[in-house]
Amino acid sequence: MDRQTINPWDARLFDDYGQIMEDFGIDHFDCTDLPHPHRLLRRGVVFGHRGFGLIKDSILSNEPFAILTGLSPSGAMHLGHKMTIDEVIYFQSVGADVSIAVADIESYAVRGMPLDKAREIAINEYVLNYIALGLQPDKCQIYFQSKRSEVKDLAYLLGRKTNLSTMKAIYGFEGETNMGHVFVPLVQVGDILHVQLEKYGSPRPTLVPVGIDQDPHIRLSRDIAGAFRLFNVSKTKDNKIGVFAKVDENVSQLLDDAESALGGEFNQIKKMPDYKAIYLDDATEQDLDRIERGLVPVELRHGGYGFFPPSATYHRLLPGLSGDKMSSSIPGSAIYLTDTSDGAAKKIGNSKTGGRVSADEQKRLGGEPDHCSVFELFKYHLIEDDAELKERYNMCKNGTILCGHCKKYASELMSQFLEDIREKREQALDVIDDYVVEN
Ligand code: TRP
Ligand code: SF4
Repeated sequence: MDRQTINPWDARLFDDYGQIMEDFGIDHFDCTDLPHPHRLLRRGVVFGHRGFGLIKDSILSNEPFAILTGLSPSGAMHLGHKMTIDEVIYFQSVGADVSIAVADIESYAVRGMPLDKAREIAINEYVLNYIALGLQPDKCQIYFQSKRSEVKDLAYLLGRKTNLSTMKAIYGFEGETNMGHVFVPLVQVGDILHVQLEKYGSPRPTLVPVGIDQDPHIRLSRDIAGAFRLFNVSKTKDNKIGVFAKVDENVSQLLDDAESALGGEFNQIKKMPDYKAIYLDDATEQDLDRIERGLVPVELRHGGYGFFPPSATYHRLLPGLSGDKMSSSIPGSAIYLTDTSDGAAKKIGNSKTGGRVSADEQKRLGGEPDHCSVFELFKYHLIEDDAELKERYNMCKNGTILCGHCKKYASELMSQFLEDIREKREQALDVIDDYVVEN
């Protein structure tokens, strides 16, 4: 099979997530050990990750960690967008501090959306729904890319460690691509890494929960974060753990400081200034994260950023009701959080299911819940109880329920959800200022 490419501005449905993971080196996500994991985590909707170990460790040991995401204020908020915020709310409940970028610079650069329009959509469509869905104001900031100077500064400064060929290779930019657009990924890197600046909480593990379409930005952010580290920690060919200074100034002081920072945890430390290295003879591969952590204060003292490589979780893109992607540009494919119950019921009624051509045949052969957009609604959004979901799956498979039944039930649950969220949105109007910050 051809290697798939991922382009964040041309999201489409991917059919083979296993292949994507292999092609791009994404690890399998496993929620074991997490406290009360969210249904999207339990059900394999979140299927992959990069560097989630750092986050899991932080959760289990009650250490600070950040969660950061961004919203692109392009149109109304639909259920596909809801997944990210569901994850944010879950991770907030297990200790994360939250930052959310309104990607107004991106919307302007890519789609020509004026900044004031972006602001209006962000607040009326997204922020109100986020609050209605349960986002808490404590340790939570929603900011605008265009107003946060640290984000823009980082975009510029961090650009020093990437080049045009890399940007073209990752994003497929061409000679005609406008420069604003070329700059967008760096602004997103600025979003992702600025929360580790001292002003925004100092270096700490940072989770970016995204749809798989955003992976190019994650790879770029991780590469850049690493490129700015002053040390490289790695296993050598002869299986030793080494700490290597990547800079040329002040190396002996840097190594001395690293030695004393790590001295508390490791006993067999060999310093080799000629190689700009320290070898930790009693460390193993399991210690790599801990060593990186230990070196952060040293890097800060020497003028570095000490960035932790940002971690990411990847969720499947929710297929649209028409069977294509869920998109504002395909009418009827998406359910919006501001839809009426009737409107939503109509879309559900017309949606593509995994049913058979006739009721008889379906009773005989059973339906195909794995290829059914109504079942996906249950699984991603509407049914919280795992046992109930499983029962419905089985009843579909063995032909004891038919699609009409599911559509009716889905419409009822959706109506309850939409009513509830409508009420909460109204209450949310009063508390927006507890969330949105002006710089
Ligand atoms: N590019 C994202 C989108 O199109 C929005 C975004 C901006 C974002 N900054 C971010 C997402 C930082 C995650 C992290 O939806
Ligand atoms: Fe989907 Fe329900 Fe039809 Fe099965 S019976 S294919 S789950 S709508």
